[in-house]
Formats: sequence, structure tokens, C-alpha cells
Amino acid sequence: MERQTKYWTIRELDQKGQQSIKEAAALLKKQELVAFPTETVYGLGADATKETAVSKIFKAKGRPSDNPLIVHLADIEQVPHYVKRVTPIAEKLINTFMPGPITVILPSNEKIATNVTAGLDTLGLRIPDHPIARALLREAGLPIAAPSANTSGKPSPTTAIHVFHDLNGKIAGIVDSASTNVGVESTVVDCTGDVPIILRPGGITREQIEEATGVVTVDPTNDQQTDKPKAPGMKYNHYEPEMPLWLVDGTSAFFQKEIDRLTKQGLRVGVMASEELIGKLHVSNSRICGSKSDLTTIAVHLYDTLRSFQAKDTDVILGEVFPKQGIGQAIMNRLEKAASEIIRQ
Ligand code: TXA
Ligand code: MG
Repeated sequence: MERQTKYWTIRELDQKGQQSIKEAAALLKKQELVAFPTETVYGLGADATKETAVSKIFKAKGRPSDNPLIVHLADIEQVPHYVKRVTPIAEKLINTFMPGPITVILPSNEKIATNVTAGLDTLGLRIPDHPIARALLREAGLPIAAPSANTSGKPSPTTAIHVFHDLNGKIAGIVDSASTNVGVESTVVDCTGDVPIILRPGGITREQIEEATGVVTVDPTNDQQTDKPKAPGMKYNHYEPEMPLWLVDGTSAFFQKEIDRLTKQGLRVGVMASEELIGKLHVSNSRICGSKSDLTTIAVHLYDTLRSFQAKDTDVILGEVFPKQGIGQAIMNRLEKAASEIIRQ
């Protein structure tokens, strides 16, 4: 069903900005869906205490109902309100990294609507490090369930234009506050036991978590397509651009050979790579997604670059492979899920 989507542009929290926040929060309180910026990606918010509001998220995104949602809070003090206990590991991560790009999984006390957790007895909680997001959460005065604000299976939105492209006419409102500054989603960490388990790599790196807690493990299903990963969302297709993405793992000479081979076969090849690699290649259809010397720049531009290729002039995207260190773990997790093939030298 098509409907009118309200659109607010907020660049600062001046009087006009505050007024827009009030209008957006009023819609959330009326159980409507509002997309809003966070430091990672744009989220699609709904009142997490109301089953009817939450069910609209699954419908608008076309999201499978067994994939639980993260609940967003304005302040650290609200965390104990929604969980049975805050484990020592969670306490450490909360105090070190929140607000910030991390989600802690804790035993739920069932104050949140059951469709948020998709029947699990745990709950993911996150406090975004973004002034507009927190102003909206405070004004709504509610815990807000919010997945990334994209059509299920597509790259996550890092600008309000991406949200508009996927969800205009399907949701009540979009709060536009420029590009997000991390670019990949939060790190999802199971904190129910004695050792933090990374279920989804993200904006806070494994190295940072290890430094804070002294110990960390990574759920092995992270990198696999399996039926029973601990973060249920990891089993579905994700982050896919309009045309197939193939990753090329090898030297620049090997990359060039692949471009030439596929072009000879009649395929219109697009290349997504660092400025360092693009500088060494001969290819007309290419996009720089950042610098290899600073992988945070790749994270910031990753989804926008994937979305920028158009089927009218590109049959296949060849993408660079990055080192799985620091933020590179999140980047490669997303690229490997988005890709249908990896071509190795
Ligand atoms: O940065 C982010 O986390 C963004 C912004 C909007 O906050 N949100 C986001 O949500 O990425 P979403 O729904 O696209 O991804 C949430 C991930 C999924 O893989 C889901 O399976 C996992 O978190 N998850 C949520 N609750 C969980 C739980 N109780 N146990 C295990 N995994 C959970
Ligand atoms: Mg998502």
C-alpha cells in the first residue's frame, strides 16, 4: 500500500531541528515507522513495546520474521530495565563502548514485544552515538526496535536517499541527517556468558573488545552460510547490489587479467576498489571506495559504492579483497555475504 512518507532534513538541533524531532517522535508514539540516522547506518524505528508497531517493520522491509531486531535506547541507565541481569562482561563493554557501534545481547526480561526477539530469550541492546538519534529516542521516551532501513537483502543505507529509494511510500517518515560516519553496522556481542562472543563483526573491532575485556571469541558461523547461526540474521542473503558481485583475491596484474577476460566474454565489468588498486588498473567503469591505507574510509563508502552501480551499464562488479584486520573484519564479512563468487589467484 502506497502512502505519503514525511521527510525532515535536520542538520543541527536548532529550533527547527527540535520541531522536526518532535514530529518524528509523535509518529513513533502513534506506532508508525520512522527511519533515522545512527553513526553506523540508517535504522527503521518502531515502538519496541508494541507488537503491531514492530510487525510493520517486517512488512515494510520484507524481512523474515525469525530474524530478531536490535532495541535502541537513549541512555546507558535504561539498559537494566529490559534485561534479567547485566553480566560483568556486558557491564565492561557498555562502560567502554556505549554510546557507540556495539550491540550487547543479554537475557531478556520480556518487557519488549515478543516479535522483536523472534522468540529468543535474549535481547540485543544498543545506544547509538549520534545526536539526532539520541534526541529522537529521548523525545519518543520509548525503546525503539530498529533494523537497518533497507529492503531486506539490499546493502544497508548510509544516506537518507538510500532509505528513500527503498522505503518511500511504505513508511511514515524519514529523518535525513547527512551520511553516517562509520558505514558498517554495530558489532553484535553475545554477553550472556563469561566470555564475549562476536556474533557479527562491526564498528567496534575484535581487537578493541579484547583490549577492554582481556578475552573474546568469534562465533564460527560468522563467516559461513549456515542454517543455525547464533545471530539468526546471518543466514540470509545480505547487502546484494543490483548485479552480481565477484570478489577478486590476487595481485593487481591478476585483477587486470580478470577484467580483460570477462570483458572479452562480452560482460560489462564494473570495478569497486581502493584508490591504490584503481590507480594500477585500466578500466573505464570503476568506483573508488576508499584508501587501503585507512580501512575506515572503505567502511564509510562500502554500501554507497555497492548501490552506485546500475544495471543499465554494468553486468558484474569485480570487488577488491581487504585484510581481515580491525574494521577489515566487518568489511570482508559484508563483502563475502554480498558476493556470489570469489575468484582466487
Ligand atoms: O548498527 C546497527 O546495528 C544497525 C543500526 C540501525 O543500529 N542495525 C542493524 O540491525 O544492523 P539489523 O536488524 O540489520 O541487524 C541486527 C543483527 C541481525 O543479524 C540479528 O540476527 C542480530 O543482530 N540479533 C538481534 N537480536 C539478537 C539476539 N537476541 N540474539 C542474536 N542475534 C541478534
Ligand atoms: Mg540489516
